[in-house]
Amino acid sequence: MSRLDSFIRRMTSQKTLLEFLVDKVNEVDGPILELGLGNGRTYDHLREIYPNKEIFVFDFAMDCHPSCAPDAHHMILGNIRDTLVFCGPRIGAKASFAHIDIGSADPTNDLATASWLAPSIDAHMAVGGIILCALELNLPNYETLKKPDGIHRGRYHIYRKTSEA
Ligand SMILES: C[S@@+](CC[C@H](N)C(=O)[O-])C[C@H]1O[C@@H](n2cnc3c(N)ncnc32)[C@H](O)[C@@H]1O
Repeated sequence: MSRLDSFIRRMTSQKTLLEFLVDKVNEVDGPILELGLGNGRTYDHLREIYPNKEIFVFDFAMDCHPSCAPDAHHMILGNIRDTLVFCGPRIGAKASFAHIDIGSADPTNDLATASWLAPSIDAHMAVGGIILCALELNLPNYETLKKPDGIHRGRYHIYRKTSEA
């Protein structure tokens, strides 16, 4: 598969999955956490499909298209490994949805990220809240939700919190 085809497949999967989860996420109160602003594509889509939810965005820096820049209160700058632990007072409530797009091309780095990320994101999720992540996370107090048809099996994971740990 060419890199162009692979890119198109990844973007299509992201859009399909984000839209697939809207009704389930809207059943739960709480803000949305977008981990990895990048150039703001998925953040911009989240704004469109969740007009009534507050969205907090995390990244090392704000380096997105100018039309997708979050305001200062909703843009949490720094290493997510540090900022996620301390974001509670700022986000004000447990989250209904976390979209996590911070994978790398290196499997060892991804394993290290998944190990600090799982307990840290769990601390900010409401019961019933949903995590969509390209990394596999060890979250014993979550169920795994089935993905819609056409999504590559190992590529994305959907977790719903069933209880506090
Ligand atoms: C693939 S991009 C996100 C793309 C975005 N979803 C979009 O649609 O444009 C991943 C982003 O995660 C950020 N990132 C990865 N690891 C991070 C960390 N530990 N702390 C802060 N930001 C991180 C990178 O800086 C990068 O901007």
